[in-house]
Amino acid sequence: MNPAFKGIKSPQSPIPVVIPACERPITVLLVDDQATVNEAIHCMLETEANLTYHYCSSAEKALQIATKVAPTVILQDLILPNSDGMTLVKEFRANPLTCDVPIIMLSTNDNPQTKAEAFAIGVNDYLVKLPNQIELVARIRYHSQAYLNRQAHTTALVAQAHAKELEQTLQELRQTQAQLIQTEKLSSLGQMLAGIAHEINNPVNFIFGNLTYIDAYVHDLMKLLQLYQEKYPEPDAAIQTYLEEIDYDFVMEDLLKMLRSTRMGSERIIQIVLSLRNFSRQDHQEMKLSNIHDGIDSTLLILNHRLKLGINVIKDYGNIPLIDCHPAQLNQVFMNIINNAIDALLEHPNRPKKEITICTSTLDENHIQIQIKDNGSGIPLAVQTKLFEPFFTTKPVGKGTGLGLSICQQIIANHQGTLQVISKPEEGAEFIIRLAVQTAVA
Ligand SMILES: Nc1ncnc2c1ncn2[C@@H]1O[C@H](COP(=O)(O)OP(=O)(O)O)[C@@H](O)[C@H]1O
Ligand SMILES: [Mg+2]
Repeated sequence: MNPAFKGIKSPQSPIPVVIPACERPITVLLVDDQATVNEAIHCMLETEANLTYHYCSSAEKALQIATKVAPTVILQDLILPNSDGMTLVKEFRANPLTCDVPIIMLSTNDNPQTKAEAFAIGVNDYLVKLPNQIELVARIRYHSQAYLNRQAHTTALVAQAHAKELEQTLQELRQTQAQLIQTEKLSSLGQMLAGIAHEINNPVNFIFGNLTYIDAYVHDLMKLLQLYQEKYPEPDAAIQTYLEEIDYDFVMEDLLKMLRSTRMGSERIIQIVLSLRNFSRQDHQEMKLSNIHDGIDSTLLILNHRLKLGINVIKDYGNIPLIDCHPAQLNQVFMNIINNAIDALLEHPNRPKKEITICTSTLDENHIQIQIKDNGSGIPLAVQTKLFEPFFTTKPVGKGTGLGLSICQQIIANHQGTLQVISKPEEGAEFIIRLAVQTAVA
């Protein structure tokens, strides 16, 4: 992992501390205007472990007290002064803090019709006053535990949703950071290459320019010497000795050869400078019509020192139009993909016939395709699913950053294109880039 990310840890779902349902504290709230009922119920519950008891004598204060003490179960009288119990039940149900708290209706009324009405408006249970102690305790515990379990479940769901959200945010953060690193890298690499290209360009231009004159002057001087030899075929002894000393015939022959190879060398430098400039074009802002083949060729030239290690590049260029793109960014894509192919091919130095095939073609009048294929060891299926994740690498520390393909994907997506991989283990890997000829991208 990149050191920049050392501080960021993957979010982990919070591990809930599981308390057995029977041990979770129970809070009972009795709402009843009769003090005798309060005394009786209190008496029934006071020896119960893990149970807190609260009492409220009026319907007016019931909701306020309930939101304060957070009961796990409400025992409620059906007939209350100044309010009917059914209305209070509806109020409990309408309040977000009490809407799910189980309500056990307590009433002297044993009429099934009344019970049915109570259940219909959301009462959870119904007991005739005064209930049996064992039964009351059992029902209080049963409803409280069911309520606590539901709450724990909801809390866990909320925590899970938060963790997922956090994970997504982290992923986006990594993506943004990778993008920033990439932008930074691209611009500093681009600036450096452009600087080097510029510095080399001037001296190489005057070497190349002078070479034309040197060539002409050398030919003139050789012609002059030839004329001398023709006019004075018998030079004096000093000249003759000197001619032998410098090995005149060899010098004449070698001079021409050296001039030719110097010219070839400087032509090559000019080509490299051109490629560096082409590769690093400082054009991050604007899209421009560019020749994809030039971009690939420049990239190959820059990677030549690696390709020379026994890799054969087969170019199968089709007749594709100029593409509306950020050429320096696309060159970065070619660079990353070809570099990966080289890595895969050089991984096993004894692999015979190492090849990278680059094929370009038109798909339809507005789309082109670039296929970059190697005959390396291929990509296992398990790796293929993670290939484009930032920081995913199978390479040793210091060798792989795991950013190459995620950057490629971002750049291609930015161009509204697609990047696809096809690979069978031991049959190499193929990366397919599809781009629109004209893109409506800024
Ligand atoms: N042509 C390829 N052949 C085999 N494996 C590849 C190839 N291209 C990419 N990969 C796999 O994808 C991984 C991620 O690639 P990349 O994002 O460029 O990061 P890096 O090259 O730094 O590891 C590599 O570590 C490698 O396992
Ligand atoms: Mg790479």
